Parts: sequence; structure tokens; C-alpha cells
Amino acid sequence: MTEKTVLRAGTESDLHAIETLYRAAFPDEDLVPLVRRLLREHDGFLSLVAVSGDDIAGHVIFTRCSVEPGGHTVALLGPLCAAPSAQKRGIGSRLVRAGLERMDAWQAVMVLVLGDPGYYGRFGFLPLCPILPPYAIPDDWAAAWQYLDLDGSKAPRTGRLTVPPPWQDPTLWSE
Ligand SMILES: CC(C)(COP(=O)(O)OP(=O)(O)OC[C@H]1O[C@@H](n2cnc3c(N)ncnc32)[C@H](O)[C@@H]1OP(=O)(O)O)[C@@H](O)C(=O)NCCC(=O)NCCS
Repeated sequence: MTEKTVLRAGTESDLHAIETLYRAAFPDEDLVPLVRRLLREHDGFLSLVAVSGDDIAGHVIFTRCSVEPGGHTVALLGPLCAAPSAQKRGIGSRLVRAGLERMDAWQAVMVLVLGDPGYYGRFGFLPLCPILPPYAIPDDWAAAWQYLDLDGSKAPRTGRLTVPPPWQDPTLWSE
């Protein structure tokens, strides 16, 4: 990949390329139905693509959620992927950082992610998230449930994450 990679908001016309990207990046996991449902929503979702030449080389979604009780606005990060042929070139990191920079628009006080701590730790995510996930996650995934305070003074320390319908599927949290 020699072309410059630019980030921009995803559009409806990107959907086919995004689905192809997820099939390549997650050969053992079918995230396409989730991604399709998230991208059909027009409110409360941030979709960013990394474009290299004519190709979509990376994608991330942030979902606006809340923590109850209290109603704090937080964001859920994911899914995230970079094309296998374009990995380890900073695309994933750029997508995460660009999304985090946009969280002010939602006045989100915290970002949560269920992912590899070895990766998300580099952005400051911490394990032992004090907020409960919407569904039980397997014990051996405990370290994968991570958080990043955006506004430490307002970030909740108790409560449960409340997610919009595309995320209301226990299998997304346990398989
Ligand atoms: C994870 C992923 C998005 C990273 O994208 P990327 O563009 O390759 O990431 P970057 O170039 O910003 O960072 C690459 C670094 O992250 C590391 N890394 C990648 N995946 C990692 C993981 N799961 N755990 C720990 N480190 C990881 C790489 O080894 C590399 O390390 P280095 O900087 O020391 O060389 C990409 O590898 C991918 O799409 N993987 C398959 C799907 C996936 O696992 N998505 C994330 C779900 S949590």
C-alpha cells in the first residue's frame, strides 16, 4: 500500500466494501450482521473509514450508549478492523484516535471496549472496567472489558452499560 490513507466518515455507498473488509479481517467470526445493523442507524453511531486509493483499508464504529442509573453518556468502541494487507501501518490506531477525538460531540465521559488489552492499552484503556457490561461476559474475558475516562470528574464508577438494539444480543458478548 503506497497510497496515502485518509480517514473520513463512512457513507451508505461504503457498505459493500465495509462488509467485504470485515469478512477478510475476521475470517472466523461473522460480524457483518452487527455491522450492517449499526450502519443502518442514523443517530448515535460514528462510522469512520480509512481509504487508501480506491480501497477501504480500515473501519471503526463508536456507538453512543448510557450508563444506568445516572444516565451518563458513554461510547462503546467497536468493531474495529484493518484490512489484512494493510495491518501494522497505523490504520487501526488512527481510526481509534480519530474516534476518540470526536467524542466531545456526544459529551461522552467514558469509552468502553471489549477487546484485546494488548492493543487497546496503547490508547490508555484500562482493565477492570467499573461499569458492568449489558450481558455477562465469560470470566476469562474479564481483562478484555476495558474503559477510558474522557472526563474523570464525571465518569461513573458504578452502573451497567445500556446499549441500543443492534448490541442487544447476548451472543455478541460471549462468543
Ligand atoms: C487489531 C487491528 C484493528 C489493528 O489494526 P492495525 O492497523 O494493524 O493496527 P496499528 O497499525 O495501529 O497497530 C499495530 C500494532 O498493534 C499490534 N496488535 C494488533 N493486534 C493486536 C492484538 N490483538 N493485541 C495486541 N496487539 C495487537 C500489532 O502487533 C502492532 O504492534 P507494533 O506497533 O508493536 O508493531 C487489526 O490487526 C485487525 O483488524 N485485526 C483483526 C480484527 C481484530 O482483531 N479487530 C480488533 C478486535 S478487538
